Amino acid sequence: MTEIRVLSDEAQFRTHTAVFRRAMHMPIPNDEQWQVVLPSYEPDRVLAAFDGDEMIGTTQSYGSSLVVPGGAVVPHAAISRVGVRADYTRRGVLTALMREQLETLPDPVATLRASEGRIYGRFGYGLAGRWRSVEIDAKRAVVAGEMVGRVRMIDADTADKLLPELHEAIGLTRPGQIGRWTGWWARERDRKSHAENSVTVVHSGPHGDDGFLTYKVTEEKEFKHRMSIEDMVWANDDAWRDLWIYASRLDLVDQIEADIALDAPVSWLFEDPRVVHTKDVFDEIWLRLVDVERMLQARTYGASEPVVIEVRDRLLPANNGSYRVSPGGAERVDAPADFAIPVDLLGAVYFGDTTFSQLAATKRITGSRFGQADALFAVPQKPLCGTFF
Ligand SMILES: CC(C)(COP(=O)(O)OP(=O)(O)OC[C@H]1O[C@@H](n2cnc3c(N)ncnc32)[C@H](O)[C@@H]1OP(=O)(O)O)[C@@H](O)C(=O)NCCC(=O)NCCS
Repeated sequence: MTEIRVLSDEAQFRTHTAVFRRAMHMPIPNDEQWQVVLPSYEPDRVLAAFDGDEMIGTTQSYGSSLVVPGGAVVPHAAISRVGVRADYTRRGVLTALMREQLETLPDPVATLRASEGRIYGRFGYGLAGRWRSVEIDAKRAVVAGEMVGRVRMIDADTADKLLPELHEAIGLTRPGQIGRWTGWWARERDRKSHAENSVTVVHSGPHGDDGFLTYKVTEEKEFKHRMSIEDMVWANDDAWRDLWIYASRLDLVDQIEADIALDAPVSWLFEDPRVVHTKDVFDEIWLRLVDVERMLQARTYGASEPVVIEVRDRLLPANNGSYRVSPGGAERVDAPADFAIPVDLLGAVYFGDTTFSQLAATKRITGSRFGQADALFAVPQKPLCGTFF
């Protein structure tokens, strides 16, 4: 019999990490490493499944915030450390954990990164944002023109202090971006201290610091290096362009690799756009609308005729019902729907990464007025989170 409990003390958190990491086939932290992991546990947000006294499954969330289309920022749960002990899988343990977590989350929306694409749809998570992994031929990557601001290299201690402040000051602007919590920065500090050659540069423009880039360079062959962009944050186009100029002009680097938004105009920086090769397009954001009404009201809509959408949610039945979406906003209505959609697919269209018409073509939704719904949910920018957790 599986029982779900909220964990509250350090010993339980440590077992939680061990169960999760075993499920992921990762090593378990030693005492020193544990001190880095511990701050990432937030009381009230950590759940575990038990068989008697034995912990057999885990999940947790971090309290964060999320930008939605139109720019509003809403409270957000970043779901992490999902795992079930290998000797207990396929017996409904994850199902029990997910149900309890969704029913008790204080936030109207949750996102996660999925280890496998078939796990989370049944729990109402939709694939809402993808990124593009690119490789840039740095030796041929010529940017016309010069930087307009200045880039300076900072040491690890300065980065520890400055980056969280700068990230906060730059703020959240792009749909899909999330706020970074204290434990996130602690893990980042630890990761960088173990990563060889992790370097941070800060950009400043006329109004002070307005962007940063963290990267790592590895030698692949003698005098042949690969630069991996690990974190890039910017407040304006000048900072973004200058950081790319810095990256593309780094001596001894042959290749640059980065994960960028699907619509990021990186190719247009270079005189020869073919220097940017797309290696992969991979899912980044899995989105769960926990409070559908609030989340439909939080975002803005394009110009079109209104549509009525019936939402179906097996796990959170309070979301079931019809919603009228128009350029002015969204509201619950008692009216016949143009089409019905399961909550995971509503999550998939929420950021505009995919459209209702594309889903209708696959027959995963049926009905009418998909063109109008597409126009309402259309976005000027594809989503990107850019913060791994
Ligand atoms: C993924 C994982 C958490 C699933 O836990 P679980 O307790 O076996 O899941 P459940 O028994 O509740 O399964 C619920 C349903 O999802 C399906 N399912 C679960 N994991 C699946 C997977 N990896 N691929 C396909 N289907 C999966 C089950 O078959 C079941 O379907 P059914 O209801 O039609 O029978 C577990 O297998 C695990 O820990 N995997 C390794 C770690 C991992 O990948 N964690 C996720 C990190 S994002």
